[in-house]
Amino acid sequence: MDYRTPQFYRLMSYAAQADHDVVDMVSGSPDWAAPAGIADGLQAYADRGGADFRYPPSEGLDALREEIAARRGVSRDQVIVTNGAGEANYLAMAAALDRGTGSGVLLTDPVYPYYPGKIQLLGGEPRYVPAERDGTLDPAAVRGVASEDTGAIVVNTPNNPTGAVYPEETMAELVAVAEEHDAVLLSDEVYDHFDRSGEFTSALGINSEHRAVTNAFSKSMAITGFRVGYGVFPAALHDAARTRHMLINVTGSRPAQYAVLRALRSTGPDYYAEKRRLLGERIETFAAALEECGAEFTRPEGGFYVMARFPDYPGSFENAERLVDRAGVAGMPGTAFGESRADWFRFALLTPAVETAGRRLVDFFE
Ligand SMILES: Cc1ncc(COP(=O)(O)O)c(C=O)c1O
Repeated sequence: MDYRTPQFYRLMSYAAQADHDVVDMVSGSPDWAAPAGIADGLQAYADRGGADFRYPPSEGLDALREEIAARRGVSRDQVIVTNGAGEANYLAMAAALDRGTGSGVLLTDPVYPYYPGKIQLLGGEPRYVPAERDGTLDPAAVRGVASEDTGAIVVNTPNNPTGAVYPEETMAELVAVAEEHDAVLLSDEVYDHFDRSGEFTSALGINSEHRAVTNAFSKSMAITGFRVGYGVFPAALHDAARTRHMLINVTGSRPAQYAVLRALRSTGPDYYAEKRRLLGERIETFAAALEECGAEFTRPEGGFYVMARFPDYPGSFENAERLVDRAGVAGMPGTAFGESRADWFRFALLTPAVETAGRRLVDFFE
């Protein structure tokens, strides 16, 4: 499969051209409001002017890096503020491959499609480890595929698209496999605030020079358009990541970082808890409709997405278009995430119209 052409935009534009109402369950952008600190921060920033409108430090505002470091229990020197988790992932993959200890990158199948896309751009070779039926990952399967050509292992917990949350033993084992093969475990934790299982374990909890962690405020603060994320890099990757970040971007956006810092300091745990509660409600509403459709699905333990398989209706692009045309629901075809979920669809629960979408699916599959 060619992952260099993201299919996501193709389906979004197809749905946008429909001449009838379509519930968008494709996009990964939260539909709820950002915390109040974001707007407060932007307004306060607008009045500053002068030196504050100039380049920020390339690695990010010192105060923001300090705030992130304190929250994550790492030193400020390990943190680079990036243009979203997307850039942080790219920097970590590039730095891991630049170590020259292997060009193979282990990914799960199903996979968040931008990982293989980036790895192919960087000249690495994606290799796939099938996830379990419920979306969890068996570290023994990862160990079975790892070889002396493995340069990196890339995982995402809570997971897009499966909704699985990897327990502590899995994370510890994955770091161990990376260490055994002189590779880097990259853990993308962009959905960490949306763990509803209580099982989420950051790879930062496992001390090792062989793990990097990426994250962002895109999802947790509902600001996908701001482009503020970060990577926590071990010493061996930090300089390579910093140099690449500087040469490609010069730096990131100062107003966006300023607002995120303000929001980090002023947003309490209730904001995140309320979003988890809302998602939990939407999951139950959607699950009831999927049951009525006779679909197979797993209730996600974290993140935004539900994967479902309908009887005799494989997750091809054509079938996704047919759902847009005939049901008025846009969901991602499972084929976009690899071979193992070719019979499935992924639905993002980031719309107030989850109930409407569910009803439409029930009518369509009746
Ligand atoms: C697993 C995963 N990583 C990274 C990203 C991109 O995050 P950002 O918008 O912060 O670049 C997404 C967005 O959907 C994602 O699902």
